[in-house]
Amino acid sequence: MTTGWSNTFYIHTFGCQMNQADSSIMTALLLNEGYSQAENEDEAGIILLNTCAVRENAVDRIENYLQHLQGLKKRRKGLILGITGCIPQYRKEETLGLSGAIDFLAGPDSYRALPFLIEEVRAGRRPSALEFNPAETYEGIDPRRPSSISAFVPVMRGCNNMCAYCVVPFTRGRERSHRFSSVLAEVRKLSSAGYREITLLGQNVNSYSDPGEGRSFAELLGAVSQEAPAARIRFTTSHPKDISEALVRAIAERPNICNHIHLPVQSGSSRVLAQMNRGHSIEEYREKIALIRSVIPRVALSTDIIAGFCGEEESDHQSTLQLLSDIRFDLAYTFFYSTRPGTLAARTLADDVPEEVKKRRLQEIIDLQNSISSEIYQQAVGSVVEVLAESESRRSSAQLMGRTDTNRAVVFERQGHHPGELVDVVITGATSATLTGRPA
Ligand code: 5AD
Ligand code: SF4
Repeated sequence: MTTGWSNTFYIHTFGCQMNQADSSIMTALLLNEGYSQAENEDEAGIILLNTCAVRENAVDRIENYLQHLQGLKKRRKGLILGITGCIPQYRKEETLGLSGAIDFLAGPDSYRALPFLIEEVRAGRRPSALEFNPAETYEGIDPRRPSSISAFVPVMRGCNNMCAYCVVPFTRGRERSHRFSSVLAEVRKLSSAGYREITLLGQNVNSYSDPGEGRSFAELLGAVSQEAPAARIRFTTSHPKDISEALVRAIAERPNICNHIHLPVQSGSSRVLAQMNRGHSIEEYREKIALIRSVIPRVALSTDIIAGFCGEEESDHQSTLQLLSDIRFDLAYTFFYSTRPGTLAARTLADDVPEEVKKRRLQEIIDLQNSISSEIYQQAVGSVVEVLAESESRRSSAQLMGRTDTNRAVVFERQGHHPGELVDVVITGATSATLTGRPA
């Protein structure tokens, strides 16, 4: 092995929380092999881009970044550039073709091969590790997390759903769940290390099934919440088909499981949902929401919406707006549809909604949701909420930023408090995305 700066690494993470969790796994794997972590890319001899392929603009962002790294590589001889995660897993040749500066590729099931790949590059080769490994859960690796307050804990990887628009089954392979006992062991460690928030992760987290005894996600969530009683427990992302009464009851019964569910709906029209291969109608989605609200009255709900999917008509779009008005989500993550090569939709459906129509519909969805979010947030003014302080606010060290258990962002006057503390905050103001206040 070479020494000095050439063995320091820096990881840029794009995409979802699962990718962030994977970066913590890669960090641990490299540290265990004697590499050291650089503070920033200027000090690194090895730069990894952990990439996301979910939408076209995610891929564009990475392409732009690659151009910057290409320049850096010319100036710094010996710098190694690896592309990891969802883009190379899904498009090997295209990824290698993006830039001659790329030295190696590693997919989401191949991170244990990183030290080997780096050595291969030093031996003059341009290797790729892109095999799916349906048994890989990275058990036994102790992730090196960037925060000592909040931790992501993957409990399952991959996805078996085959939603027509989605690359994930092609980038992350088949579902596999971590062992119940190994999740609990990890949570126990986090709890004794003083973590205040633990988020259980999976592309389809609530389809979790213990590979030993088949225990469900509801059982896992309940057990995790007991293992770390002083931490807030969250989970994401849920699929409507796997929302069970047992899961909803576990959330209601255990005080430290947060009263927030992120439940992507994608469209308010059953016709479009069928085209998307979502596996449920909009009536079934509404029934799940009714179940959740009857058991957890103060629950906060958020969702994902795609505007302009193949074949979407004006009446379908109106159904989506109607759904937003009826359900009144706290928050919606909204996207216009972009074809992902290789997916079911790319192979079988025409991307026939014109771009300007997609963008107009998306804007109408955003405007409506913003006004709903503003109203919901405005109602909190005057109340006292418990906030887990996460960090200093972006604007000033005299303010802290944190979240309520319902996942609402709160910026408040610091008054001697520190990140990691639970603070009762009087809410004095609200926008459509943030509450503001001061300690009660
Ligand atoms: N186009 C637009 N949005 C997409 N999403 C997934 N695939 C696509 C696509 N091809 C959105 C979905 C998903 C979120 C993570 O990204 O709403 O829930
Ligand atoms: Fe992006 Fe999906 Fe991969 Fe996450 S799993 S990084 S959202 S493509």
